[in-house]
Amino acid sequence: KRVAILISGRGSNMAALVAAAIDPAFPAEIVGVISNRADARGLEIAETHSIPTRVVPSREYDGRAAHDAAIHEALTELKAEIVCLAGYMRLLTPEFVQKWKGRMINIHPALLPSFRGLDTHARALANGVRVHGCTVHFVTPEMDEGPIIAQAAVPVLSNDTEETLGARVLKVEHRLYPLALRYLVEGKVRMSGGAAVFSGVDE
Ligand code: GRF
Repeated sequence: KRVAILISGRGSNMAALVAAAIDPAFPAEIVGVISNRADARGLEIAETHSIPTRVVPSREYDGRAAHDAAIHEALTELKAEIVCLAGYMRLLTPEFVQKWKGRMINIHPALLPSFRGLDTHARALANGVRVHGCTVHFVTPEMDEGPIIAQAAVPVLSNDTEETLGARVLKVEHRLYPLALRYLVEGKVRMSGGAAVFSGVDE
């Protein structure tokens, strides 16, 4: 399967997906990385691995729909079959989400449905949770709302800061995202009627 990754920044999850896909046994190929920001550090990482990159800056388009249409066009050019959002910091239009329904996934740095949105680690600490983590889910029009594919948990330690907790979560993100992508590509999970349907992942 041909997978494209959308980023806006650092790109460490993108790098984890790229690293996993280097293994010839991995059932997907990363065919391109698209960023809405020219200064996304992840673009350099992709270039190091000779992965085609495209910058589609939002301000060059008149509104969200036009920008998403340009992203869609870039994905079509790459012949992408699956889209991974990896720190892509723009809301997507329902039309775009609909086009990639069941074929677009996102990683969120919290155990959904807790802590949707931004600043998840600070909010986890402020709420005193003892377990935190990350979630890979199908993308639906509502932000951080789609059916859950996989989660990984980490403990919250008493002396944690936003940084130490965030680093602990990020480490498991890098393991979880390739696993979840593998499930999708191998048909072990699909989205049906607004739910994630699994086959053959528990054994
Ligand atoms: C990650 O924490 C991811 O869960 C969230 O945005 C962050 C992106 O980091 N969606 P990176 O660009 O993958 O390093």
